[in-house]
Amino acid sequence: MRGASDFRDTKLPLRHGSGVMPALGLGTLIPDAAATREATRNALAAGFRHFDCAERYGNEREVGEALQTGIAAEGVVREELFVTTKLWNTNHRPERVEPAFEASLDRLRLDYLDLYLIHTPFAFQPGDEQDPRDEHGNVLYDDGVTLLETWRAMENLVDHGRCRAIGLSDITLDKLMPLYESARIKPAAIQVESHPYLPEWELLDFCNAKGIVFLAFAPLGHGIRPGLLEDPVVTAVAARVGKTPAQVLLAWAVQRGTALLTTARTAARARENFDISALPEEAFHSISRIQTRERLNAVVKTGVPGFIPRSESA
Ligand SMILES: NC(=O)c1ccc[n+]([C@@H]2O[C@H](COP(=O)([O-])OP(=O)(O)OC[C@H]3O[C@@H](n4cnc5c(N)ncnc54)[C@H](OP(=O)(O)O)[C@@H]3O)[C@@H](O)[C@H]2O)c1
Repeated sequence: MRGASDFRDTKLPLRHGSGVMPALGLGTLIPDAAATREATRNALAAGFRHFDCAERYGNEREVGEALQTGIAAEGVVREELFVTTKLWNTNHRPERVEPAFEASLDRLRLDYLDLYLIHTPFAFQPGDEQDPRDEHGNVLYDDGVTLLETWRAMENLVDHGRCRAIGLSDITLDKLMPLYESARIKPAAIQVESHPYLPEWELLDFCNAKGIVFLAFAPLGHGIRPGLLEDPVVTAVAARVGKTPAQVLLAWAVQRGTALLTTARTAARARENFDISALPEEAFHSISRIQTRERLNAVVKTGVPGFIPRSESA
């Protein structure tokens, strides 16, 4: 029997009655097509019902195929799934939002989305080139559209009933606050890098106060070693509670009230990353007290995905 301390069934309510988000989500940032299909199928079989996709990942078609076959094989119905995808930076112009959304839905073989996110608050030059650059390699940004204008087009998608909830990704508190104030349909969720080295407590407090689901990506610090998976506090807790360091980090994320996205490629990893339960209070607090601070992903500052080298440590 599953109790309150078992996080496999934990779900976070989305504002305006737009459904519930399973706390444990599978990320599909997987470059290889076959590996994407396999990871999606493995995750469904392990029990994951929340899948995070993006136009930018170039594999929505493979995720869609795997969900279709997996739904049949696992006896799951569409309503049990929670599927997110994201509007890429080159589609911020309002007239490009609905076509981009429809193209993603088509690739995913779905007729509605649970959550659609603006992938980053940075608009790039509109067009089919996802990574537009000048002759010096500099990103070509688009100053002809504001984030609020893009958001208005996202609101229209909700009005038309094809998308249950909308939100933002790679957003900072200083950009989220004004958008929140001006929005007619308030963001239901934000997706940001977060883990014990980047807890983003202030952003989490704002989300809690406003009823916005905080969805953490890189909860394992992207699996980079040395890093969170080898942090002495994390490994000590893991040994104490008889779980793996990954399970401890995922439990910490859910226990502080966030949803999370992890990328597990193999069936064994998918089962491990879904078998998550609450930590004893003192273990939870010892992780919350870790002082190292490190942002792994520069996307929040530039709109360009990718990692930046290990930097600050306190
Ligand atoms: N919005 C954005 O800009 C943005 C940016 C980045 C990611 N995301 C989303 O967030 C998702 C998750 O991000 P992430 O992949 O960085 O998350 P993560 O879970 O922190 O890191 C995944 C890495 O950890 C390793 N790993 C997974 N389970 C493990 C386990 N049980 N023990 C040891 N290592 C384990 C994996 O290794 P293997 O490769 O060996 O399996 C993989 O390299 C992405 O797929 C994507 O959907 C969004």
